[in-house]
Amino acid sequence: MNKHRVYETNSSYWDTKGNDFLRAIVLPFYGAFVTEEKCQLFGDVSGKKMLEIGCGDGQSLQYQGERKAAELWGMDISENQIEKAKQHLTTCGLSAKLICSPMEEECDLPVDYFDFVYSIYAIGWTTDLEGTFCRIASYLKKDGIFIFSWSHPIHKCVVNENNRLAFNKSYFDESWYSVAPIFVKAS
Ligand SMILES: C[S@@+](CC[C@H](N)C(=O)[O-])C[C@H]1O[C@@H](n2cnc3c(N)ncnc32)[C@H](O)[C@@H]1O
Repeated sequence: MNKHRVYETNSSYWDTKGNDFLRAIVLPFYGAFVTEEKCQLFGDVSGKKMLEIGCGDGQSLQYQGERKAAELWGMDISENQIEKAKQHLTTCGLSAKLICSPMEEECDLPVDYFDFVYSIYAIGWTTDLEGTFCRIASYLKKDGIFIFSWSHPIHKCVVNENNRLAFNKSYFDESWYSVAPIFVKAS
């Protein structure tokens, strides 16, 4: 599939859905059961320059800002997400530089600059993992740190059958698979 077609599909999904309903993919959560409080992967970020890849609506940037990071930068493929992040961070009294771009592409981010580049549940959307990792390496200053989280591939192999977890697919099968839509009840 043409990569620009994938970017369009991807950004229009996030433009429409957003991530407001997904609580466990926002720092301090790295995912369902893993938190920064417990793992201390970042530790003390005061005075540090931070870049989030796939920053969504800015809640993880808020977390870093409240922990006194010196600079907050975020990038995301979805214009709506960037707009929401802008509004959210302004409401929180935080300033951030936000860029709308696919993570796969060159987008005027400074190189050799950041203490931390991180991504919470966004990196798996890339169409070019190696290229994206190379770009991320270029944004980091010497001895800078890259932290990311993504769901474990075993999730796609397990189904709930009569309240028991059953394997319905080989862990080594990398073919396309579909995901059931998530329905969220408005509160
Ligand atoms: C689950 S959300 C991340 C939420 C974020 N951790 C937060 O704190 O709000 C995933 C984000 O990745 C972004 N994304 C998906 N594909 C992308 C790409 N190729 N390049 C940049 N961002 C992308 C989506 O627009 C979405 O906002």
